[in-house]
Amino acid sequence: MAVKICPVEDIKPGRAIKVTIDGHAIAIARTKTGDVKAIDDKCSHGEISLSEGFVDDTTIECWAHGAKFDLSSGQPLSLPAYEPVAVFDTFIEDGVIFLEYPPA
Ligand code: FES
Repeated sequence: MAVKICPVEDIKPGRAIKVTIDGHAIAIARTKTGDVKAIDDKCSHGEISLSEGFVDDTTIECWAHGAKFDLSSGQPLSLPAYEPVAVFDTFIEDGVIFLEYPPA
């Protein structure tokens, strides 16, 4: 099911927002190059919201201890996190972000 999130312009490049769908917190990130990615909002190292972290071209970095996650795969790229986090498909239609939920 495609869930409507918000207009693309509502998320500045290099930032992320947190949305909650069916009680599941998801970070919607806009990379510095303008791509839109969706990743589980909870860092796999602790109870920290990844949407409060730092978004780069392809990664999001947890502000607490610096673990970086690939926004496309959810794989951790640096310690202290070593478990991946879920990622979700998104698409943009008429300037609006949609998220596929639940994931296929
Ligand atoms: S809680 Fe995210 S790196 Fe430690």
